[in-house]
Amino acid sequence: MKALIASGGRGTRLRPITHTRNKHLIPIANKPILFYAIEAAVDAGITDIGIVHTADSLEVPEYVGDGSRWGARITYIPQETPGGLAQVVALAEKYIGKDQFIFYLGDNMIVGGLRRFIDEFRASGCNCFLTLARVKDPERFGVPEIRDGRIVRVDEKPQHPKSQFAVAGIYLYDHHIFDAVRSLKPSARGELEISDAHTVLIERGLKVGYTEITGWWKDTGKPLDLLEANRLILDNMTPAIHGEVDRSSEVAGRVSIEEGARIINSRVRGPVIIGKGCVIENSYIGPFTSIGDRTEVRNSEVEYSIVLRDCRITDVGIRIEGSILGNDVEVVMATGKPRVHRFMIGDQSRVEVA
Ligand code: G1P
Repeated sequence: MKALIASGGRGTRLRPITHTRNKHLIPIANKPILFYAIEAAVDAGITDIGIVHTADSLEVPEYVGDGSRWGARITYIPQETPGGLAQVVALAEKYIGKDQFIFYLGDNMIVGGLRRFIDEFRASGCNCFLTLARVKDPERFGVPEIRDGRIVRVDEKPQHPKSQFAVAGIYLYDHHIFDAVRSLKPSARGELEISDAHTVLIERGLKVGYTEITGWWKDTGKPLDLLEANRLILDNMTPAIHGEVDRSSEVAGRVSIEEGARIINSRVRGPVIIGKGCVIENSYIGPFTSIGDRTEVRNSEVEYSIVLRDCRITDVGIRIEGSILGNDVEVVMATGKPRVHRFMIGDQSRVEVA
């Protein structure tokens, strides 16, 4: 069995963060989202992993490497122009060959691993096996229509969903999927839809089964999803203090402090991760916060946020909450008179002031 991981796409809903980095490399609890997908495959015993990436950028191959750090062999498959998930599958036909494979969207996160799905797929004798998650907003996803316990079709982002399920971005296939994706025409949004490939398989009489994801699953397509994924991963993290905490600081709950980080006269209330070389001084870092490497927080409060590397948060009078700060971001108190808010913000950013 092989794994195919999608890491392309433009990440438009996560701008401005995705102006300068691939959305799959955004860290959750200080680790790129894509690494969780690779680790899930390896944990399920899969070491042959194909990653489809945007052809005009080597960011993902350079960042991820050849897979040896996970004991895996990673093969990179470039995608010239984004043309939908069915196109991603089609591009991998030569790499996959006649093997069964798990197709994993690199921005999906799941707790509990992949092994159960692989075992159920194998036992079912299905040609295609979908994982379904009950959601409040199925219109954002591929949605199955289920009759008498069988999927009869799958609609991509339907206005009137036929069930409360989303088809999650974890699919199991045998080689029949390649004929199906080859037969597709672009949808109204100009993409070859993976949902249409599933409907084609059903229409051709192939066996399409499913299982329900009962645990936690998230498609991290929107900013709030990132914060929620971060919350969950931090909540399950094994705490470890490698940095320094001075005597006047208080660290409580599930907290990881990486090498070279210094906590000075501050309060850190977990779950929190603080990256290498950070300085937290006269500050409060509250639950569900990730602070990237070398970031400095002084005389400020941060809670339920993701702060990437090399940021500077200084003398901010109001607690920063529910926020995502990219690399090298500064949030500092304005000096001089009159007292003002002064912004220097890139395209497609969002700021809320009190
Ligand atoms: C894609 C698929 C959709 C699926 C979703 C899961 O949507 O097209 O069928 O339900 O992933 O994450 P996208 O994230 O590209 O909007």
